Amino acid sequence: MEITGLINEVREQVKEWRRQGLTVGLVPTMGYLHEGHKSLIDRAVTENDKVVVSDFVNPIQFGANEDLATYPRDIEADKRLCEQAGADLIFHPEAEEMYAPDFSTYVEMQKVSEGLCGKTRPTHFRGVCTVVCKLFHIVMPDKAYFGQKDAQQLAVIRRMVRDLDMDIEIVGCPIIREEDGLAKSSRNTYLSEEERKAALVLSKAVFHGEDRMKKGERDADTVLTAMKELIETEPLAKIDYVEMVNADSMEPLAKAEGRVLVAMAVYIGTTRLIDNFIMEV
Ligand code: PAJ
Repeated sequence: MEITGLINEVREQVKEWRRQGLTVGLVPTMGYLHEGHKSLIDRAVTENDKVVVSDFVNPIQFGANEDLATYPRDIEADKRLCEQAGADLIFHPEAEEMYAPDFSTYVEMQKVSEGLCGKTRPTHFRGVCTVVCKLFHIVMPDKAYFGQKDAQQLAVIRRMVRDLDMDIEIVGCPIIREEDGLAKSSRNTYLSEEERKAALVLSKAVFHGEDRMKKGERDADTVLTAMKELIETEPLAKIDYVEMVNADSMEPLAKAEGRVLVAMAVYIGTTRLIDNFIMEV
């Protein structure tokens, strides 16, 4: 496995693979890799001849008061995980390699990126779309892998690829959880022992909402109120949002119909965590 911080070196390597007629998969990440990321890399390794993992804490997707400076980093551990998973190349650039001092071109999306996380993080998806678009241009993969953990991000990327005619297949992968249910996240490291326990309300609410819908409940208000009440039993939890939307358009639903996403963001202390489930009804 190779690692490089240079765009040109990635291009040269991918060109060489292309000359050999090999297919290329890309797994974009911000590093501090865990089993969730690994599930994406594993899938990519089974479906492509060569796999590139990008490992880059993208500054432009963080808001001014967010955790860019404290976002956890451990490139040595990331290298080991990628190597074990069978990735072929890690792209680990410095911010200066990705963003010229006079950088001035952004990919901006309407609607799909405006609700849910877009409300509290108004410039977040512009940063995500821009960096993913750049990574697509650098690597030119056949397929790219994203987790359903970030369901809105996945919908936003699918929409960008469709709208801008990018010839890349987007593969969505299921949420990987800790044994007790908490969705794996690099941000879980921010949680104190007490907060770690409190954080379980997210997955509990997800499982409860899912259960209510499996039993036939279709009314959004009923499902969401039950989930919110459960979250509110936890004193350390503060709800940002709990919503039911169409899983592709992110438009709010009053009644569950079609491919439904029920998504939430909840602060546990100062740490903002997300979780969700998707159900076809
Ligand atoms: P990051 O948070 O590092 O996540 C990288 C990818 O791993 C995303 O597609 C995310 O959905 C997936 N992932 C994270 N936790 C997961 C879990 N528990 N189960 C399944 N998949 C999981 O998302 C980003 O980075 C960035 O926004 C990025 C797309 C790299 C652009 O900077």
